[in-house]
Amino acid sequence: MIKGFIFDLDGVITDTAESHYKAWKKLSDDMGWNFDHEVNDKLRGISRMDSIQVILDHNNTTLDEKTLATLATKKNDIYVTSLETMTPDDYLPGAKELLTHLRTEGFSVALGSASKNAIKVLQQLNASGYFDVIGDGNSVSKSKPEPDIFLYGAEKLNLQPEECIVFEDAESGIDAAKAGGFHSVGIGPKDRVGHADLRFDTMAEATLFEIKSYFKDLF
Ligand code: G6P
Ligand code: MG
Repeated sequence: MIKGFIFDLDGVITDTAESHYKAWKKLSDDMGWNFDHEVNDKLRGISRMDSIQVILDHNNTTLDEKTLATLATKKNDIYVTSLETMTPDDYLPGAKELLTHLRTEGFSVALGSASKNAIKVLQQLNASGYFDVIGDGNSVSKSKPEPDIFLYGAEKLNLQPEECIVFEDAESGIDAAKAGGFHSVGIGPKDRVGHADLRFDTMAEATLFEIKSYFKDLF
């Protein structure tokens, strides 16, 4: 039986992918690196340090660890500054409605994000109250596609993976959910999250009614 839900944050609850893009783009422009939305899509769900490595590989460049860390911090400063203008109006359409519905129906809810800025984002959205457990980039060391962040959430909720549905917009996030034995809902195009158990183009279609209809034997 489904007792809990675990949500990714960026690209599921709110559209920070564009803010991450702008911050990486500014750094890349300063460094003379190529960076576009296609590369940015590959960064969905993966940690900050893994992300800068993807950008370097894309540019056939190598840098020492210390320089990498400095540049990642520079990107993060740009990103965190952009979060200051985020408000409770910045949920992706449908996200707040689903979180509210899950609360009223008494489901357990956890956040399973790779971001070290997740608490800041939740505060800007005024969303912290929707979550019983917050798993973020500081909670586990192995990031998606490893299942650790979702296993952390399930364990803190006192649930088994098969009692939880994971919501993800990243290819690596669906891989992580599957690796951990969770049910999965993908948000986004088929070529990104088509391997999820159930997929919606956007959160606006991801109503509890639709979810219960699909996973009907589990409710
Ligand atoms: C999320 C985003 C990724 C980002 C990661 C780390 O998973 O989808 O694009 O790289 O978080 O975010 P952070 O805020 O810690 O740099
Ligand atoms: Mg995401």
